[in-house]
Amino acid sequence: MADVTIENIPVHQVESRLRRIATPLPVPETRAMLEDSRRYEPRSMGGQPPVMWDRAEGFTIHDAFGNRWIDFSSGVLVANAGHGRREIGEAMVRQIEHGLYHNYCFPNEPRIRLARRLCELAPEPLKKAFILSTGSEATECAIKLMRTRGRQMRNEKDVILSYTNAFHGRTLGAQMIGGIPALKDWIGHMDPAMVQLPFPDGFRCEDTSFDFFEESLAGLGVEPRNVAGIIVETYQGGGASFGPQEYFQKLREWCDTWDALLTFDEVQAAFGRCGKMWGFEHYGVVPDLMCLGKGISSSMPVSAIVGRPEVMDLYPPGSMTSTHTGNPICVAAALANIELILAEDLIGNAAGMGEVLHRELWHQLKPFDARIGAIHGKGLVAGVHVIQDESLTPDGQLAHDVVWHAVGRGLMLFAPVGLGGGTIKISPPLCITEEAVVEGVSVLAEAFADSLGK
Ligand SMILES: Cc1ncc(COP(=O)(O)O)c(C=O)c1O
Repeated sequence: MADVTIENIPVHQVESRLRRIATPLPVPETRAMLEDSRRYEPRSMGGQPPVMWDRAEGFTIHDAFGNRWIDFSSGVLVANAGHGRREIGEAMVRQIEHGLYHNYCFPNEPRIRLARRLCELAPEPLKKAFILSTGSEATECAIKLMRTRGRQMRNEKDVILSYTNAFHGRTLGAQMIGGIPALKDWIGHMDPAMVQLPFPDGFRCEDTSFDFFEESLAGLGVEPRNVAGIIVETYQGGGASFGPQEYFQKLREWCDTWDALLTFDEVQAAFGRCGKMWGFEHYGVVPDLMCLGKGISSSMPVSAIVGRPEVMDLYPPGSMTSTHTGNPICVAAALANIELILAEDLIGNAAGMGEVLHRELWHQLKPFDARIGAIHGKGLVAGVHVIQDESLTPDGQLAHDVVWHAVGRGLMLFAPVGLGGGTIKISPPLCITEEAVVEGVSVLAEAFADSLGK
């Protein structure tokens, strides 16, 4: 018999213009369905606060029982243009009414239009796009292209470098290049040519110099000439942590010197999330490949890898494909989403509201700074790194309690992420207003006080 225990959320009745919590959580009427989830879905699906989402619009989430949350999650950094955008729904309906739901790799107008749009928006030399369905598919494809090119040059040029604490997805290759040991224990036999280096976040890794990159590489016995490519999240998703601009500029030069490809995993960072179209614009460099997903459609499963034409063309016709590549309905959503982000200047709003968000976090969370090791991020993504004490050990329990209290007060957050589950991640839809940002952060401060019994 499956364990169907469901954790209660500590509820604080609230009624404001943007939030309403008027029932126990989970709502008693949803218990049977939540128990069915425990019974029929894997245990791994049970990590989020047990709130049954019913509908969502813009930056608010509703259940079917009159409760309403300000959303600081965007699902999981997907709903960049906002939840339930009518324009995206109408584009999908038009495609459905048009009568093409699937067509594999046969040429189809929506898919080719999305590839062209991504290439128009991407900087030189990223001028070919392969449309896929999930972020992991895009990172797997990056691994394949980098290693294929390296091995075509010389058999030993097969090393894929990535970073400690990195997350690139849950499929085999994506986890082998990932930097979270607990996620890859199950693999057993690691590829000796997949190597992780410390990510220069200035917090978990204090040395952010590029010399440290070269020293670490030498320490691991990797010869630079054998590096086929480097894949790096533009910011590390687990902590919303960026590295220094100078480091990435030197990394770009290093890749050019050693003829290695540089891939930015932009699955979280693109489409305005960091206050720029592409997150890597913060570093003033351009990669050879970029992986896209999540915010590309604000809704449907679409991803892409965009890169240098000569790399994207390494495989002959029919040999780098996917069953659901460019699904016409998903692509219609992505095209409408991209136009919304541009037409409504949601990137500008993310930059402006991002300043408000980071200012408010620093200000309103000040009373708890003994338990906050760092607040990272840019634009509308932030990671509040919760710690036990000055040893900087992540405090997964406190981070969990804060999230559960926040949800019980009408602020939607997903469960903590990152090292030791100690990071509270904040990532609202890019259409959020100043009123909602300020109110959301004040709820977070109340949730810290609740959790610490202050
Ligand atoms: C940076 C990054 N890369 C890749 C992925 C994998 O994307 P997906 O879950 O769509 O496979 C994620 C998902 O969280 C991510 O954050």
